[in-house]
Amino acid sequence: MTSEHECYVYIVLPGTAEFVTAGRFRVAQAPGGEAVGEFVYGRRYLERTDAVELDPVELRLRRGKYETARMQGFFGAIRDSMPDYWGRRIIEKNAGHAQLEEFDYLKRGPDDRAGALGFGLNVQPPAPQRTFNRTLDLERLQVAADAVINNQADIAGSAASQVEALMLLGTSMGGARPKAVVEHDQDLWLAKFTRQDDRWNHPRVEHGLLKLASACSLTVADSKINTIADRDVLLVRRFDRDRTEGGYRRHRLVSALTLLQIDEGPMARTDWSYILLADEIRRVSAEPATDLRELFARMCFNAAVSNLDDHPRNHAIIAKERDWRLSPAYDLTPAPVIAKDRRDLSMTCGKFGRYANRENLLSDHARFLLSKDEAAALLHNIVETVRLQWRPEMRRAGVSEADCETIADAFLYDGFFYEA
Ligand SMILES: Nc1ncnc2c1ncn2[C@@H]1O[C@H](COP(=O)(O)OP(=O)(O)OP(=O)(O)O)[C@@H](O)[C@H]1O
Ligand SMILES: [Mg+2]
Repeated sequence: MTSEHECYVYIVLPGTAEFVTAGRFRVAQAPGGEAVGEFVYGRRYLERTDAVELDPVELRLRRGKYETARMQGFFGAIRDSMPDYWGRRIIEKNAGHAQLEEFDYLKRGPDDRAGALGFGLNVQPPAPQRTFNRTLDLERLQVAADAVINNQADIAGSAASQVEALMLLGTSMGGARPKAVVEHDQDLWLAKFTRQDDRWNHPRVEHGLLKLASACSLTVADSKINTIADRDVLLVRRFDRDRTEGGYRRHRLVSALTLLQIDEGPMARTDWSYILLADEIRRVSAEPATDLRELFARMCFNAAVSNLDDHPRNHAIIAKERDWRLSPAYDLTPAPVIAKDRRDLSMTCGKFGRYANRENLLSDHARFLLSKDEAAALLHNIVETVRLQWRPEMRRAGVSEADCETIADAFLYDGFFYEA
């Protein structure tokens, strides 16, 4: 029997805080066949003068049917709105033994997803989610997250409180680390928890790295540390939400994975590339020169601090109005590597592949619309700022001396300066 799933796709248009119906998404799979996804913009939506595209590469505004056989029929912009490893784990825990299909993760994910899209079975959109966790709930959420990680059968005493804890913890935001969304100071924040097996204080180190990136003149997400009991939680302000009187405005957010039209499978990794990403950003950004300069600096920063988990889901473009721009930087963490001669970023960063090395980083400067001298000056500034500031920034972020020692090898490793 052919399996078929269908839902409506809603969007919060620029300047508003309510969903409108944008189109219909459908996935069909014949037995033994490939899943094929279809998306059509609604006729009424296309008639609106304020209609906007879901993304600037795959689902441009136009009449007619879009089809894809990639990623089990899921278009990139829809995949970007779905939970990833962490959110899926919570959904699976909630589902018990039920067999889940890919579509279930879309339907069962809560309405706190990254970007401006929503999904549902009625042609009329629901009111967007209005109540969120508060920072007061963080302690409970951290306890529940520990229980999920440790695979404890019982995470909260009674069955009813277990269901409630999982519901609070569930999120459609992506990523693998334990997290939840909380409302704090009239804003929405991504709360990133510690894992008991972390080798250092992740919240504080990520906070310190975001501040160090900012000291290197990069545009980064706002962050702060919240300490409950003796555990630290990193709060990262969501740049895809802005509070207004009528609720939250939602900004479209599309990952670099979608922009490059690639997936996360091992076969696609050869196309994970800053250079190709630069080409796409040059085409879609409203300010290509500024955004490419920023992307180049981010790539250099990641190499200088061994943030080697800089995969294409850790880069995004955002549209607060009609136009697309590179989003602020997020998810910065030093990798615990020992190699001194060669470390590789997750994406190609020059003519010598993924090698996190000064000469390699500079080798394709023109693709970022930078002259050789401009690129060299940007890189030099980042190297000197990292050299002088990494430790003071970490200490200001409350990272202990011991943790500074543990991560010290991440900064400006030897091979960074070798001849490529
Ligand atoms: N400040 C932010 N505002 C809006 N969206 C964000 C923000 N920070 C992260 N995101 C979105 O949430 C996702 C998960 O966040 P993040 O990458 O920090 O989590 P993670 O679990 O550390 O990820 P990974 O699996 O890459 O280690 C990101 O891929 C991005 O789509
Ligand atoms: Mg991430």
